[in-house]
Amino acid sequence: MQIVRTIAEMRAVVADWRGAGLKVGLVPTMGALHEGHLTLVRTALEKCDRVIATIFVNPKQFGVNEDFGTYPRTEKEDAAKLDNAGGHLLFAPNVDEMYGKDGGVTKVSVAGLGDILEGKFRPGFFDGVATVVTKLLLQALPDYAFFGEKDYQQLNVIKRFAADLNIPVIIEGIATVREPDGLAMSSRNAYLLDEERGIAPTLYRTISEVSERFKVGGKAEALSKWAAQQLLDAGFQKVDYVEIRHGDDLTREAVKGEPIRVLAAAFLGKARLIDNVD
Ligand code: PAJ
Repeated sequence: MQIVRTIAEMRAVVADWRGAGLKVGLVPTMGALHEGHLTLVRTALEKCDRVIATIFVNPKQFGVNEDFGTYPRTEKEDAAKLDNAGGHLLFAPNVDEMYGKDGGVTKVSVAGLGDILEGKFRPGFFDGVATVVTKLLLQALPDYAFFGEKDYQQLNVIKRFAADLNIPVIIEGIATVREPDGLAMSSRNAYLLDEERGIAPTLYRTISEVSERFKVGGKAEALSKWAAQQLLDAGFQKVDYVEIRHGDDLTREAVKGEPIRVLAAAFLGKARLIDNVD
């Protein structure tokens, strides 16, 4: 697997592939790769002839008090995993290559959908994600790009700006990959101490129960309150939200009998865990 650090080098490789009539898939990541990321790569390999993974810890999507400085950076191991999974190219730019010396002044912002849930608790987060993913899509111009349902709101934000901006790419969502006990795989799980790791699957169990109970007639507000208390009782320190939203449009209230999505974010030790189920 080839590793490149400049946009020009990536574009030259993609131009060769395109010249040969090959289909190109893109898998954007921030590294510290786990089976969730590798499942995206494997799915991309089923649909595409060539797969580019990107590793870029994007400063624009971290708040001032968040973990940009301590986010795990394990490029050597990541490159070996990608190579093993069959990836063809790793694009790993530095911050100057991505944003230029002045940092760039243009941003992509998805009003409404980008302001609720994660957007409410992490102001500017989705602007940072939308801006960097727009840049990655325009830098690589792939046929397909692959994102996890683990970050369900992010997946929806990306689908929305790609459609609004007529970016010629097919956005594919991939089901959340979980540990055997249900915990959604995440690079941030590395922050959990042993005892916290034992508590962490409560998040998935609780939102799964919320989903089941809503579908048989439970009330959204009461279920959200119940779930937050369950998490606190289990040992989570703070619950940002547990919400039941319409599955097709997160800005809408959930309606019984229609697709739903239960989404949650809560702090456990040094980790802020998010998860969602339908
Ligand atoms: P990161 O957290 O590294 O995740 C990269 C991709 O892997 C995202 O599409 C995410 O949804 C997916 N993913 C993570 N854990 C997963 C799991 N357990 N199952 C399935 N998919 C999973 O998300 C980001 O990076 C960034 O915001 C990014 C899109 C790269 C923009 O900077």
